[in-house]
Amino acid sequence: MKILVTGGLGFIGSHTVVELQNEGFEVVIIDDCSNATEKVLDGIVAITGKLPLFEKLDLKERDKVESFFKKHDDIEGVIHFAASKAVGESVEKPLLYYENNIGTLVYILKELSQKAKSSFIFSSSCTVYGQADQMPITEDAPVKVAESPYGNTKQIGEEIIADTCKVTPSLNAIALRYFNPMGAHPSVEIGELPVGVPQNLVPFITQTAVGMRKELSVFGDDYPTEDGTCVRDYIHVVDLAKAHVVALKRLLDSKNDSNYEVFNVGTGTGSTVLQVINSFEKVSGQKLNYKIVARRAGDITTAYADTTKANAILGWKAQSTLDQAMESAWNWEQKIRK
Ligand SMILES: NC(=O)c1ccc[n+]([C@@H]2O[C@H](COP(=O)([O-])OP(=O)(O)OC[C@H]3O[C@@H](n4cnc5c(N)ncnc54)[C@H](O)[C@@H]3O)[C@@H](O)[C@H]2O)c1
Repeated sequence: MKILVTGGLGFIGSHTVVELQNEGFEVVIIDDCSNATEKVLDGIVAITGKLPLFEKLDLKERDKVESFFKKHDDIEGVIHFAASKAVGESVEKPLLYYENNIGTLVYILKELSQKAKSSFIFSSSCTVYGQADQMPITEDAPVKVAESPYGNTKQIGEEIIADTCKVTPSLNAIALRYFNPMGAHPSVEIGELPVGVPQNLVPFITQTAVGMRKELSVFGDDYPTEDGTCVRDYIHVVDLAKAHVVALKRLLDSKNDSNYEVFNVGTGTGSTVLQVINSFEKVSGQKLNYKIVARRAGDITTAYADTTKANAILGWKAQSTLDQAMESAWNWEQKIRK
């Protein structure tokens, strides 16, 4: 079965390509290399022994998307990772984010709507919940007003898919709301490659530890949490990648209850920033240079997932601990800085 993975050279996409190939799927990757390089293909081959098909293509170019689907008319499922994801940049350049994250989604859905049957997995985010009123966060928690154009593209993206599914019974879709992905493949052949200053905590920690950053700023220690720092749900990227494979199989096997479903993908456990730093110090055996600074505007206090729905319906559960995920992130950082 041929599966298209857009953004398949990126962080989560490349790990998902590995899991798909391990399960025997034939994978075609589309990536424009705006936030990744073709060298990622070598890592995928090193792990799976198989080179996926790859087309370097910008999904914003609608005619090229059309030609691609004509050429590969046997594609049975699409996992759509391709997007721009820097929250700060999205505030500076909203139209770039709306064009890249919404425009490309519309083009792909138009193609899929013409097929007799199609299966579509969308990369959504826990950012849609904002500061949820109750923890852990279930899928029924209300979607809050987005804090950034990036967050808004995930909310609008979900709405576009839901609206399209309503009038397109042949289209079956699942939106996966990721919590905080981290880590690298245990082989350290693939991992996260942030461009510029990392947006996420874990690569900032590992880059500080190898001396690329002077110190880590912890934004606020006066939040109403266990130790005063913000709480998030950190999920190993390999666990997250596996969630995509089970979600896709659910659609391909027509096991879905409705043609648009939403699942949280997290571990169900919240960790404070200081607990994450502690995990790093434990697995690396070295102290991290960090300081507590003032709160940062826009940060919510706590977010962790209720994963009951994914556990029960997808039969999927995150397996790795924070320490295991941290160890893979640290091994990866050390490997790429050699
Ligand atoms: N990493 C996170 O913390 C996180 C959390 C929640 C949701 N997400 C979502 O998951 C998805 C994947 O995230 P990631 O962390 O792997 O990001 P990433 O930047 O590593 O991967 C995205 C890939 O898409 C490609 N791409 C971007 N625009 C494209 C276009 N127009 N045409 C073709 N390729 C294009 C990039 O080159 C990159 O390889 C994104 O949709 C992101 O918004 C990520």
